[in-house]
Amino acid sequence: MQRIFIKGVKGGLGSTSVVANLACVLKKSDVNVIAIDLDAKSDLGLHFGLPWKCTKGWSNESSFEKAITHFHQDSDGVIFLPFGDSHAEPSDIKKLINNCNKFDCTANTWLLFDCPSYIELEQLPLERNDIVLELINCDAICHSLIYKRLQKLKKSDSNWKHFFLANRYNSASVLEFDLFSLWQSTLPLMAPFFINSDEVIKESTAYRNVALNCAPYSVANDDFETLAGWLVSKAAL
Ligand SMILES: Nc1ncnc2c1ncn2[C@@H]1O[C@H](COP(=O)(O)OP(=O)(O)O)[C@@H](O)[C@H]1O
Ligand SMILES: [Mg+2]
Repeated sequence: MQRIFIKGVKGGLGSTSVVANLACVLKKSDVNVIAIDLDAKSDLGLHFGLPWKCTKGWSNESSFEKAITHFHQDSDGVIFLPFGDSHAEPSDIKKLINNCNKFDCTANTWLLFDCPSYIELEQLPLERNDIVLELINCDAICHSLIYKRLQKLKKSDSNWKHFFLANRYNSASVLEFDLFSLWQSTLPLMAPFFINSDEVIKESTAYRNVALNCAPYSVANDDFETLAGWLVSKAAL
């Protein structure tokens, strides 16, 4: 079982969109995918066509046995667990992640966690084989946050596989090009590609779906296929 934690260095950088799109691309290539929403916004289900009336999720339950009754499966076969509409402390999130290790899964199963930006990585029960993807946008705020994050990582004894991934990249912007080039040459943890800014991602969300189903020949879908292939290579290391 491979665990992937996806989180923005700040809010609104696209972690839920990346989790949903990546989940469907992985599923298409015959990886079993379980996506878990750890964010109180509870909007992951939106990308998988979850009906509005289904507002409950794991946070509404006091035990793991009851929480797993809230799993759903989308039309692509992706299994997902909504956050729900109750409150959860970071300790509840940690407990849920640990409980997910109990799943009787094959080695070909990937658990994708949509992590809220407000939770500290140090509060997550990360292990050596985990992959953490921290999303960034190519702007000055993320530039500053990356360097703060690197200082913290240096002090911690992190042993998981940690990467920064640029999302919503605007190829027409000189500033974005310069920042991405700078990070590529100075940051060893930078993923060697970016996810382009593509209206298809917003449009497919409006259809409560993902790029793979709404626009399979789009730049966005190509980008998520690149991301999935690269993660498979990192998971194998
Ligand atoms: N690569 C992208 N190109 C265009 N829009 C994007 C992209 N990634 C995310 N978005 C848009 O950015 C907004 C925030 O995305 P979301 O996934 O909800 O972020 P988060 O989960 O980090 O809060 C949404 O409107 C989403 O459609
Ligand atoms: Mg989100």
